[in-house]
Amino acid sequence: MFSYITHLECPQCHRIHSADAKASYCVCGSPLFAIYDMMSVIDEIQAGMFPSKINSLWRYSQLLPVKSPSFVVRLGEGWTPLLTTRQLGKHVGLKLLRIKNEAMNPTQSFKDRGLCVAISKHLELGAKSFALPSAGNAGVSTSAYSAAAGVLAKIFMPEDTPEPFFRTCQMYGADIEKVSGTITDAGRVMKEYDGGWTDLSTTKEPYRVEGKKTLGFEIAEQMGWSMPDAIICPTGGGTALIGIWKAVEELEAIGLLDYKKPRLYAAQSAGCAPVVRAMEKNALTIEPWDNGETEAYGLRVPSPFADRLILGALRGSGGGAVAVIEQEIRAARSIAARMEGIDFCPEAAVGLAGIRHLVESGDIDYDEDVVLLNTGSGSRYPYHHPG
Ligand SMILES: Cc1ncc(COP(=O)(O)O)c(C=O)c1O
Ligand SMILES: [Zn+2]
Repeated sequence: MFSYITHLECPQCHRIHSADAKASYCVCGSPLFAIYDMMSVIDEIQAGMFPSKINSLWRYSQLLPVKSPSFVVRLGEGWTPLLTTRQLGKHVGLKLLRIKNEAMNPTQSFKDRGLCVAISKHLELGAKSFALPSAGNAGVSTSAYSAAAGVLAKIFMPEDTPEPFFRTCQMYGADIEKVSGTITDAGRVMKEYDGGWTDLSTTKEPYRVEGKKTLGFEIAEQMGWSMPDAIICPTGGGTALIGIWKAVEELEAIGLLDYKKPRLYAAQSAGCAPVVRAMEKNALTIEPWDNGETEAYGLRVPSPFADRLILGALRGSGGGAVAVIEQEIRAARSIAARMEGIDFCPEAAVGLAGIRHLVESGDIDYDEDVVLLNTGSGSRYPYHHPG
């Protein structure tokens, strides 16, 4: 069996939606979750069929939404290395730090997971073209997977996004629109058009989270079906955070996880930290952040649509949120490259600098097992040598 998806369900009002019709978000305003027939997945585990041996995220196809393999657009996404660092952990106050290196994905970021799965599923549902607002990496990923599928992509990006992101989207044949402001403004401009395209905006359709969920499956499998004590997620729109928490719950439901659940931490830049502020205020929703500014462009998301789910995953896991300033981002990026030979994107540098704060505050202990997502390559961002 390729997929055991049964339907979509709203985690807020519990309305049921079809998984065989075009889907966006619930009438109550919440993102939707894909639901699977877990008893059949358990049977496949017992038959040795789950996970498969495929060296991509499609090794978990039974818990992914695409029903027919003929709609899957493959470029080699997922199954990225979980690296054990030599010195970087000690530098931030930890005995052991592992890096899930998402720069190894086909277009060099973890966005490939969500967009590969979402684009494949929407093609199955009849989509003919795609559009989304993007801070850079999601645009590149959408452009590449649309090219691979032979369909058009239209990308709306803030005009101050580093130039290599525009050029790469163009290289893949996408149509680009530069917008003044942040990703929120890019989304607003996109809505003014009626392009007849399928809207892939973060968490406004259910399937990007499904692709991102495989990050959680992979970390667990690569650690022998166990989880680290803490996972640090550089957070903008929150798809990785929400996806990893969904993965933990699904692995628990099918009996593939030992007793330990990871604490999830969102790392943000102090220049745009709406999630951190909401956690500090003990709020249930996230207030929009005014005039967000940061070199970690992917984290400049002033008003994440999935706010309740983000806060729910952080609190439900017993984790939290941390903000760091721009100088720390530059320094962390340089240190990761020099100490470990890993090309960090600025967003992951936010996560690395955030770990130091979390150790200093006592949220994370020296001897805990910690995984940081290097969510993408740094190669398309300008590098500023610190000091
Ligand atoms: C490199 C990088 N890291 C992190 C993020 C934030 O991702 P999420 O939407 O999962 O919070 C982005 C989003 O653009 C990104 O490009
Ligand atoms: Zn609802």
